[in-house]
Amino acid sequence: MLDVQNLSMTIMIEDAAVPILRDVSLQVAAGESIGLVGESGSGKSMTLRSILRIEPENATVSGRITLDGLDVHSLRGEALRRMRATDVAMIAQNPHAVLNPVLPVERYLIEGMHDAQGVPRRQARLRAGELLEQVGIERIDLVLGSYPHQLSGGMLQRVVIAGAIAGEPKLLLADEPTTALDVTTQAEVMAILDECRRELGMAMLFVTHDLDLAASVCDRINVMKDGEIVERGVPEQLRDHPEHPYTRVLMESRPATVMWASNREAEVAHD
Ligand SMILES: Nc1ncnc2c1ncn2[C@@H]1O[C@H](COP(=O)(O)OP(=O)(O)O)[C@@H](O)[C@H]1O
Ligand SMILES: [Mg+2]
Repeated sequence: MLDVQNLSMTIMIEDAAVPILRDVSLQVAAGESIGLVGESGSGKSMTLRSILRIEPENATVSGRITLDGLDVHSLRGEALRRMRATDVAMIAQNPHAVLNPVLPVERYLIEGMHDAQGVPRRQARLRAGELLEQVGIERIDLVLGSYPHQLSGGMLQRVVIAGAIAGEPKLLLADEPTTALDVTTQAEVMAILDECRRELGMAMLFVTHDLDLAASVCDRINVMKDGEIVERGVPEQLRDHPEHPYTRVLMESRPATVMWASNREAEVAHD
């Protein structure tokens, strides 16, 4: 469904063309969950931005990206808007950057559905409640009427996920969706995202620096370093037989697992 072929990007910085992405190729089939894993600055977000055609202005891009056979670089105007509004949804790291601080979250969901899909406001209001239920929120009316600063990061990210799945897009682009959350909330939000995705049969391109987290929710993983894919495979293969030295480094820096393991030991010891 998504086919990225030899995507390269350079950015002009003070008269020099700085390479950002080099020959990135990856595929996501319908309903699949694919990981893009690498340390900070490796080019993960730029890859996602290229898919949505929201690269920085001074970027030069080459290669071919097709979504359901449509070349995204050929899309203009209404076709591009429609692709962004209905075929693909993005979930970013920081929900505060997405939600308007002076509006209750209800408005975010209603406006989203109204603007992107033309759902009448009254109907969108009902649907907003259903969506919040779907992402595991219990006190729905309270949350709908709350302003972003009144809710926790985990709650806000659930609202963003609700907005992302509202239009039942074919593809979710998730850019470190749980990185800004504390460890317990991270696990909850990740589980909800994964469950919604499976239930609705959406594909996901999941970006993270955490190889273990990717391994827990992805069918296949691409490892990215310095703008290049250096290794790819199924999670077990990367975990048990990493070939590239960089994949091994990522496997060895597994803070979440180490922390969970030691917490569990502490609990057992306490019991
Ligand atoms: N607007 C920009 N102008 C110039 N360079 C940028 C810009 N945004 C990001 N970069 C550079 O592009 C590279 C890849 O960034 P990014 O895709 O954001 O990495 P990641 O998401 O993997 O942390 C980094 O070296 C970053 O410094
Ligand atoms: Mg990033």
